[in-house]
Amino acid sequence: MARHLITSAIPYINGIKHLGNLVGSQLPADLYARYQRARGHEVLFLCATDEHGTPAELAAAKAGKPIADYCAEMHEVQAKIAEGFRLSFDHFGRSSSTENHELTQHFAGALERQGLIREVLEKQVYSNADGRFLPDRYIEGTCPNCGYDKARGDQCENCTKQLDPTDLLNPRSAISGSKDLEVRETKHLYLRQSALRSDLDKWIDSKSDWPVLTTSIAKKWLHDGDGLQDRGITRDLDWGIPVKKGDADWPGMEGKVFYVWFDAPIEYIACAKEWVAAGKGGDWERWWRIDKGADDVRYTQFMGKDNVPFHTLSFPATILGSAEPWKLVDHLKSFNYLNYDGGQFSTSQGRGVFMDQALEILPADYWRWWLLSNCPESSDSEFTWELFQQGVNKDLADVLGNFVSRVTKFCRSKFGEAVPESGPYEPEDHALINELAVKVADYERYLDTMEVRKSAQELRAIWVAGNEYLQRVAPWSTFKEDPGKAAVQIRLALNLIVLYAALSAPFIPDASAQIMRDMQLDALEWPTDLNDFLDQLKAGHAFDVPDVLFSKISDEDRANWQQRFAGGRS
Ligand code: 2FM
Ligand code: ZN
Repeated sequence: MARHLITSAIPYINGIKHLGNLVGSQLPADLYARYQRARGHEVLFLCATDEHGTPAELAAAKAGKPIADYCAEMHEVQAKIAEGFRLSFDHFGRSSSTENHELTQHFAGALERQGLIREVLEKQVYSNADGRFLPDRYIEGTCPNCGYDKARGDQCENCTKQLDPTDLLNPRSAISGSKDLEVRETKHLYLRQSALRSDLDKWIDSKSDWPVLTTSIAKKWLHDGDGLQDRGITRDLDWGIPVKKGDADWPGMEGKVFYVWFDAPIEYIACAKEWVAAGKGGDWERWWRIDKGADDVRYTQFMGKDNVPFHTLSFPATILGSAEPWKLVDHLKSFNYLNYDGGQFSTSQGRGVFMDQALEILPADYWRWWLLSNCPESSDSEFTWELFQQGVNKDLADVLGNFVSRVTKFCRSKFGEAVPESGPYEPEDHALINELAVKVADYERYLDTMEVRKSAQELRAIWVAGNEYLQRVAPWSTFKEDPGKAAVQIRLALNLIVLYAALSAPFIPDASAQIMRDMQLDALEWPTDLNDFLDQLKAGHAFDVPDVLFSKISDEDRANWQQRFAGGRS
């Protein structure tokens, strides 16, 4: 049994996430976690809300709530929606937890002891109109690297370059739009990432199995231009983790907090402590400390491409720089962007479908299937209502749903609601089992290597093989001449339904659970030996004909939703 630590990029607290956010991290991470659990491995799957930084402060101000209350409420909202999508986190934590406060301050102290922190008297942008310093993303302007005119002060969305606010050309306040900005002096801490360049370089070189998208972004920022820059890790904000070294105050840094991107990834570790504090686990260090048993853990992170620099460079710099035996990521799976109907999903503009809205329209499985089978893996991909309708209707309703319905209804009408009495499988039945054995092995290989689209295609091919078998052996015709033979075919087809429930559970857990209930089986086991697996429903085993597993999306529904979502969300 292997041990898998799996984390999804932690979503910002301000507002409900859209489907593009979901498919870029939480959903594929959940697919992988469910699959590894189904294979019998020990899994710790963690996610949390990312609660610090200016966007959280501004969102709370807009909602007219104290920031701590706002975060607590929004955390509950996000947790509930995550449950709605069946995201199977072992713990959904909060980056504002006391555990994260302690660990973040601990790391800062460790980095300082290693000589990797320097104090910098910095010039920073102050907005007279807003009466505050404007950190990172609340200054907008033109990217000095690519010329994109809506680059933010922390990063250019267009070319992914990490920026400092003062790098921007033609800066303006993203809060008020005011250009009445002045530069004031303020003291900050810098992490000397440049001192870790060769360690990071070697570490990234050792990751030959990482997706090209991941390593190319990391290498670009290690080597392009001036290479890896030292990074400011503190901010002049009220809300955040107070700057301390361990338990001790940091002279001169009173009233300042750590930068959100410094404490957010540390929450991956803190979340495991929260998991223990919540009584869900006994020992977090065996997942995170290589001196305490985590040396045999395989750690996989999931994230959108804009997060890659922070996970390949900044967070590893924190870990390596601490010189303490923390677990580093083993595999980093990154995603491109999902676009919405010819443009981008956008939280600020309310463009696209948001997670709560999606669940109001259709159950989670419909979304899970479409999003995963169309995820932006090797390039950006596109959500349109037509593509969504097609995918759901063809794959879920016509292929999987129809198979389950045809087989169970035919059995009921000819033999009753129990597996019919029958003889051994015949050559054409064995041919199908052999064909499926190859496909299941491919499916497992794709899931093991996190090739999400290919795994969805293979699963669909496994469903299709069942339909083709039915067409080929045509039990409805066989029944007329040889009811015994038709009974054998139906017994195999009923067993196939169970196989589909087991294999499909990581993608569509609710439908799988419904099938299992209808087939009157308790435990969902992974098929290790297909011959045995497809012989488990014996003659006399009762079942219920399932209600419609997946309804088709009508043209009328599609048109209504298209219209409803055209205007954006306020
Ligand atoms: O892009 C985002 O949504 C960030 N909140 C991701 C943070 S991931 C990590 F570092 F914790
Ligand atoms: Zn740029």
